[in-house]
Amino acid sequence: MNIIRRPRRSRQSAVLRDMVQETRLSVTDFILPLFVTEGQNVRTEVASMPGIYRHSLDLILDEVQECMDLGVKTFDLFPNIAEAKKDKYATESYNPDGLYLRTIRAIKDRFPDCVVMTDAAMDPYSSDGHDGVVENGKILNDPTLEVLGRMAVAQAQAGADMIGPSDMMDGRVGYIRSALDQAGYDQVAIMSYCAKYASAFYGPFRDALDSAPKFGDKKTYQMNPANSREALIEAQLDIEEGADFLMVKPALAYLDIIKLLRDNFDLPVAAYNVSGEYAMIKAAAQKGWLDGERAMLESLMAIKRAGASVILTYFAKEAARLL
Ligand code: PBG
Repeated sequence: MNIIRRPRRSRQSAVLRDMVQETRLSVTDFILPLFVTEGQNVRTEVASMPGIYRHSLDLILDEVQECMDLGVKTFDLFPNIAEAKKDKYATESYNPDGLYLRTIRAIKDRFPDCVVMTDAAMDPYSSDGHDGVVENGKILNDPTLEVLGRMAVAQAQAGADMIGPSDMMDGRVGYIRSALDQAGYDQVAIMSYCAKYASAFYGPFRDALDSAPKFGDKKTYQMNPANSREALIEAQLDIEEGADFLMVKPALAYLDIIKLLRDNFDLPVAAYNVSGEYAMIKAAAQKGWLDGERAMLESLMAIKRAGASVILTYFAKEAARLL
């Protein structure tokens, strides 16, 4: 048979396949989200996220140590706040003695070389469970910015290296940037959740933080999953407002959006491989319906191949062990 082009030639052996491999995962790609909770010596597994725990501050330090030893050195912190401390304006978010800011300080104190990314959003501290100030059932944009600015400055003061606004209010990147600069934190970066969709895949995360909205949904601020050109507008705005990274969230059902931003902009693109994406693979693997490790690595590889140079993933530690 006279077949001139035979792509299988370069798939013949492991060495050749390795040689022509276009994308490689590295532990330095990963950011591990961590859930912190009140108390001492507390480590409770999130029911819908097998292998993922809420740790009290003392134990989160051990967790960070373990990750650092594996080469995972960037962490995105989220707090589980007691219902009694939640209020309409999320004031607990900038309480210097509150759980979240204490945790940032403790981690940076003990591990000055790690990178701590923070979540700048009201929902874990909001009695309404929304990412904005609620008035008459509406999520108000501009009053929310004031809370986010205060929260971001408090996080920077506590030692955060990078602020992650995950709320999707208009103008928040610019507002946070100028609040940080005015407070003297011009070296603190912003990783903007720039194309964040109103997704069903956040369910397990809201279990982890007990942060589900008390009414309605998040569709007036998070994006419609049907839209991709709108992601270009969001990205353009966030770049103009001073973002250092663009993020797409979720990751796996939005690989086209990751590629769209990668192809159109020069800032590094991050992707958030969210809680529901983690849960799906874990649940199927527990049932013996698929090979969990392979599905995990294939998913992470796909996210990187699509154009994400940074991956926020609950798999970070597990993947690091295999890489
Ligand atoms: C909210 C926030 C959410 C996540 C990160 N920050 C959930 C939401 O928007 O309701 C989801 C992360 C995940 O599912 O892993 N500010």
